[in-house]
Amino acid sequence: MKNKKIALAVSAGIAAYKAVELLRMLVKEGADVRVVMSANAGQFVTPLTFESLSGNPVYHQLFNSERSADMEHIRVAENADLMLVVPATASTLGKMANGLADDALSNLYLAFKGPVMAAPAMNEGMWGNLAVRKNIEQLKSRGVEFIEPEEGELACGTTGPGRLADLDRIFSRVKSRFEKLQDLRGIKILVTAGPTHEPLDPVRYLSNPSSGKMGYAIAGQAQARGGEVVLISGPTHLKPPTGVGFKSCKTAEEMNQLVQEFLPECDALIMSAAVGDFTAEKLEKEKIKKQSGEGRTLNLVPTKDILMEVSKVKTHQFVVGFAAETQNLVQSALEKLRNKKLDLIVANDISAPGIGFQSDNNQVTLIDADEKIENLPRMSKKEIADILLDKIPGHAR
Ligand code: CTP
Repeated sequence: MKNKKIALAVSAGIAAYKAVELLRMLVKEGADVRVVMSANAGQFVTPLTFESLSGNPVYHQLFNSERSADMEHIRVAENADLMLVVPATASTLGKMANGLADDALSNLYLAFKGPVMAAPAMNEGMWGNLAVRKNIEQLKSRGVEFIEPEEGELACGTTGPGRLADLDRIFSRVKSRFEKLQDLRGIKILVTAGPTHEPLDPVRYLSNPSSGKMGYAIAGQAQARGGEVVLISGPTHLKPPTGVGFKSCKTAEEMNQLVQEFLPECDALIMSAAVGDFTAEKLEKEKIKKQSGEGRTLNLVPTKDILMEVSKVKTHQFVVGFAAETQNLVQSALEKLRNKKLDLIVANDISAPGIGFQSDNNQVTLIDADEKIENLPRMSKKEIADILLDKIPGHAR
């Protein structure tokens, strides 16, 4: 857990005192823990206790905090690898399930985009209450991982399910979650992203509306899962994910050169860039002037097909291509899969509204080398990135 950034979210239950011990265990293993507290958690344990043991400021007040101008919940959310809610009370789970944000903890949860784990603790009547069950099912369906409470004597004097899971159990679940998150360790992944620019004259170029979001999401997720990533990007407005080797380029030929350079040392290539198929036969040195009333014919020549070049030289690499189509989605993607000798192709209909270029979401069809077709529902590009990365052989070794 060395250097893993954990946001330990403590809500207001009697089991809050156990979060103190859990914090010590996490810190001892080298984790960098930031504690965030619900509005009433301070009734059980003071922020100072958590601050002293974590060595980090504690985020416990939404307002009146010296740091609130700095949008503290956003900073904590941006930096954490995992949000761990211990104890998770019925009230906190209810807020999380329903998108309410009236204290530091619930604000952080809404702003956080990474994995969330929760260890509930509450009275057995509350644990069995239908409203709580519904909130838990809702959160599970959104990917929150629960560490179920145990049966036993509860603080309120009754016996039943609701007691916070044993700390060793919580600790080992967190540890294995991080191991799973590191399933691409030792795998070198080359990703291309964005459009290319093919210059016509000093001020004009041919391009396409690719934002680069898909490729950047793949590179970011691969890096977060422990992969060694090189991202080759055409011009975009995006910030390269931290920890990723970054190479920028403009033209299809520059991208081709970089792919050929890095390919031999990589285990996988994910070619999500929207590479221009044509470039100007002749690059004008001076700006092309308009002749009044006259049109202009551009002479274009094809660029090299990077994946075609890769198919001639690849050895062990797992190669993924994309197919941006406006018609005959599966048939066109199949042809590309075969011609470019791909291991997997990701096909998407770029004419469908709300998905594809520029969007944060996409709806894709995957076709593997055995031509097995898998239609995925509409989802975020980050989720698609994870599904693609799961296909890389050896990813869980
Ligand atoms: N590609 C490539 N080199 C090119 C053009 C495309 O490597 N010069 C890659 C893309 O990165 C993508 C795949 O080939 O992974 C398919 O790209 P797409 O634009 O859908 O298809 P094309 O092969 O260019 O064919 P067409 O434009 O005729 O559909």
